[in-house]
Amino acid sequence: MQPKPLLPLLALLAAGVSACSQGRHSASGFRLPENGDPARGQMAFVALECHSCHQVKGAELPAVESRMKAPVVLGGQVPRTVTDGYLVSSVINPNYKLASYPPDEIAVEGKSRMPDYTDKITARQLTDVVAFLQAHYEVVRPSREYPVYY
Ligand code: HEC
Repeated sequence: MQPKPLLPLLALLAAGVSACSQGRHSASGFRLPENGDPARGQMAFVALECHSCHQVKGAELPAVESRMKAPVVLGGQVPRTVTDGYLVSSVINPNYKLASYPPDEIAVEGKSRMPDYTDKITARQLTDVVAFLQAHYEVVRPSREYPVYY
């Protein structure tokens, strides 16, 4: 009796599926340098005028005229880890995934109000800004007594 070719077929399918998840848009292999410096990141945040639209929970930033009706708040308590990849994408590709704010406050015709920083921010600044922001997020697992809104 011939063995059924089901197993090799399944193996082939599995290989195909994992090849897809390794496509060029996969976050796999993405890693910022380990030497991001929160203090330098805060300086870059101010130099790039991020604070004209954002507050960062727990950070003292110089007062500036706000460019938003209500500043988009970064940092603070979140129900799950904010990844470096999410923050990098938010800064250099803000339309990829809009923050969870009322859309008419943060976007115009579906596009983020956040300016294009790809020509303005260096990789050094981006690494440091991410370290600065990460230092101000605190993961708090939501519970019935203590819900966290994000
Ligand atoms: C003109 C206003 C403006 C400026 C300047 C600005 N942003 Fe934003 N930013 C926004 C708005 C509006 C959003 C929400 C829409 C979105 O997700 O793109 C946002 C979203 C973000 C998010 C995602 C927030 C979340 O909770 O998902 C991050 C991170 C961020 N900005 C970082 C920065 C950094 C770093 C700078 C400076 C390099 C900067 N922004 C400059 C307006 C601005």
